[in-house]
Amino acid sequence: MVELGTQSDRGVSQLRCIGCGEIALPDRFRCEHCRDLLEIVYPGWQERGAGGLTPPELKKLWDSRRSSLDPLDQSGVWRFREVLPEIAAQQVITVREGNTPVYELPHGSRSAGVKQLYVKHQGMNPTGSFKDTGMTVAASFARQAGYRWVACASTGNTSASMAAYAARGGLHSLVLIPHGKISWSKLSQSLDYGAITCQLKTDFDGCVRVLNEVVERMPVYLLNSVNPYRVEGQKTAAVELLEHFSWEPPDHIVVPGGNLANSSAIGKGLGEMRQLGFISRLPKISVIQAEGANPLVRTVREARGEQLVPVHAETMATAIRIGNPASWKKALRVIRESGGTVEQVSEIEIALAKAEIGAEGIGCEPASAVTLAGLKKLVKQGFVKPNESVVLVLTGHVLKDSEYTLKFHRGDLFAGTGTGLDEGSERLKTQQRSPLSLEPNVDAVIELLRSAEN
Ligand code: F0G
Repeated sequence: MVELGTQSDRGVSQLRCIGCGEIALPDRFRCEHCRDLLEIVYPGWQERGAGGLTPPELKKLWDSRRSSLDPLDQSGVWRFREVLPEIAAQQVITVREGNTPVYELPHGSRSAGVKQLYVKHQGMNPTGSFKDTGMTVAASFARQAGYRWVACASTGNTSASMAAYAARGGLHSLVLIPHGKISWSKLSQSLDYGAITCQLKTDFDGCVRVLNEVVERMPVYLLNSVNPYRVEGQKTAAVELLEHFSWEPPDHIVVPGGNLANSSAIGKGLGEMRQLGFISRLPKISVIQAEGANPLVRTVREARGEQLVPVHAETMATAIRIGNPASWKKALRVIRESGGTVEQVSEIEIALAKAEIGAEGIGCEPASAVTLAGLKKLVKQGFVKPNESVVLVLTGHVLKDSEYTLKFHRGDLFAGTGTGLDEGSERLKTQQRSPLSLEPNVDAVIELLRSAEN
């Protein structure tokens, strides 16, 4: 048995293969026997509960930390450290991630046809995406394990987050991103936070292939989402969500799917909360992909989930432009155990849903908007019932891809894409709010106001 840290009152975690169940060394990513992914498990929980505490005791403890000034308590991830792997407090790299808001979407609930619709906005994390919640755990582990270098392949958000946490933790970081296929804001973040940033003339899946070899040959710690510590941090979004709803789970949680780690993480968090006795039933977890980047949908529909159907991915929601998702088995397990489903949405559905979320004063990046677009389909199919409660997980901040937003409102998002969609499309026009040019003249502005009121 390999222990990740010293035995403490929190109990010991282990790294275990999701395929054959073999226990692995703490800094591995794949099983040495069957090459499947690894996950962190907590054998001690069965006897003693997490941290040796009961759910009521843990709820009280986690709640009391909200008023603490300790950086660990102020983190919406480390506040729940009893359900995380053991990492020494002085090794923890935190930028006060987590603690993200839950908002109601009154217009969205009407347009989707459900009574209670909420978003958990993970884009409100320090670097603007959900990646921070996982990065704090995995980067801290890297530091504790003595690594000087960390690296990731990314569609932009992981790299922004990794660069920030590496910088805060005194680590060097290497970023591999697909040339010309990530948003400028995300690229600018990794430059600003000081990462060595390489644009490779390939797609995300190609970047992953290169990086996997680099980390084999160099003492560099991999911070892609196959990293099991990232999943542990990301699962706390589910704990936070349950706490927000006074431990009464919603009926459905809808998550965007790219490399499929986030859906896995949220499912893991919920499963553990049930195992520990915090909740008695699981929300149904459904994963939505873009039509042009739909390997999970095809895997379920064409291969009954038995083997991955990789695709050549193409979507303007560049964060989820992924054709060969590493965590597909983990995500499928979560979808099956919770009774959820998979669905795909078109580029126009994504664009419209994004504009709707924006018009509610919330906003998100395109990849996050697949959730609302997908929900609409799930309601139409009868999978989500009108009286059920639904939480959409918004994964990235609206400012992550302002170029997309501007193009949409100006009416040229689909120009030259061969989709036949342009500013003339009536469906798009309903949501477009293009900037107006006026003379610097009071009457002209007042005239405009009057016409807007009608
Ligand atoms: N939403 C956003 C905004 C993302 O950045 C990603 C993934 C996802 C959804 C999908 O999450 O991969 O866990 O299924 N972005 C990764 C990156 C791949 O490199 O930033 P997933």
